[in-house]
Amino acid sequence: MSITSNPSRTSRGKLSSTVPAEQLAEIRELFEERRKGFSLDAPFYTDPTIFGMDMQGIFQKNWLFAASVAELPEPGDYVTVEYGPTSLLIMRKDDGGVNVLHNVCRHRGARVLTAPSGSTGNLVCGYHSWTYSPEGDLIHASAPGETEFDKSCFGLKKAHSRVYAGLIFVCVADEPPTDFDEVAKIFVPYLEPHDLGRTKVAYQQNIVEEGNWKLVMENNRECYHCDGHPELACSLFPTWGLTEGIVPSHLEEVWDRNKQAENSLEERCRRYGLPYEVVEELDTRIAGIRISREPLDGEGESFSPDGHRLSKKLLGNLRDFRLGRCSMHLQPNSWFHFLGDHVITFGVFPINEHQTLVRTTWLVADDAVEGEDYDLDKLTHTWKQTNIQDKAFVELCQQGAGSPAYEPGPYMKSEYQVEAFINWYVQRMQEHMA
Ligand code: FES
Ligand SMILES: [Fe+2]
Repeated sequence: MSITSNPSRTSRGKLSSTVPAEQLAEIRELFEERRKGFSLDAPFYTDPTIFGMDMQGIFQKNWLFAASVAELPEPGDYVTVEYGPTSLLIMRKDDGGVNVLHNVCRHRGARVLTAPSGSTGNLVCGYHSWTYSPEGDLIHASAPGETEFDKSCFGLKKAHSRVYAGLIFVCVADEPPTDFDEVAKIFVPYLEPHDLGRTKVAYQQNIVEEGNWKLVMENNRECYHCDGHPELACSLFPTWGLTEGIVPSHLEEVWDRNKQAENSLEERCRRYGLPYEVVEELDTRIAGIRISREPLDGEGESFSPDGHRLSKKLLGNLRDFRLGRCSMHLQPNSWFHFLGDHVITFGVFPINEHQTLVRTTWLVADDAVEGEDYDLDKLTHTWKQTNIQDKAFVELCQQGAGSPAYEPGPYMKSEYQVEAFINWYVQRMQEHMA
């Protein structure tokens, strides 16, 4: 008996991508009629067909943030990442590199590894024990009386990966967008001094928000709602997103304090050779990005009530705690805060049209000792609270999108990044449907 496999055979995927012509025409029209500067029509947040198309047009085509190297420090360490119908295994290789495999057994499709993270040598499927090497090659598949077959045709499928400045990105497209490498050249100089290769996970939080993934991203892309974040407001200037000329009188004093903090941060960055300028290409390229280094209020060191450091150990080769936050937004599923004493990564992983996993990870220097150099509750307090508050905001909007009275409303000036995110989304989806 001989069993062979046609590597291009993906009939099931094609079947699931077939949206009836009439429905597709209706969805196309919704995209074409999208009113610029306004939130999306309700079906974009509630319709399972559009969710399926989002998974194909956005999450199966673009580079996504998956994890950081600190989450898999040793060879054999892995994390599983799931979004929509996709499940990926991200493994640390013996040579220190990273391998990304589809977590779908080539026998009958079972999830090979089911834990969210762990450490393993070979990958053994729990169903009938087909065994794969860490590279994904099928090395063992036997049954009583079974004859030999060509195992080389049944390795775990691979996905593309890139590791930049300790952040692991994945892309499951056959041909990933090429502009991501150019974007990495923009962000690596900002992030590398924090040296994620010498950090460890202090804490990871997974929350499921009862909201569409786009509402999660929209909520992150503005601070118009930041009055709802009392803990964050201690360290974040409430003038975020405002520009000269649109500062309300009650914020003028804060605006001045922010300006002063900006000037002294710029001076320090110049002294240490750290980039700080705003680079913003959120909807002008496929790998949309915004990055900058911004001052924090108070001591300007960290997300604490007085802005004072939350971990005593400086990251990487940094020479100063007062570096504010290096903030990065990437389309479509991530944002980050790189500080002198810790780093927080945020990954957004859609589950279905009305549920989204938000994974927040706090990283500290790998030699920082809990209880001595940092207090875990204090380290995580501000963003744990902020995440709970954001979850509530997102869920209120999801409820609204499902209500018969909902219609798109206008974005304010300080919500320009929300508009940029939606603009980016619409462009990508129209290209996908073309
Ligand atoms: S489904 Fe994995 S071994 Fe059978
Ligand atoms: Fe928020």
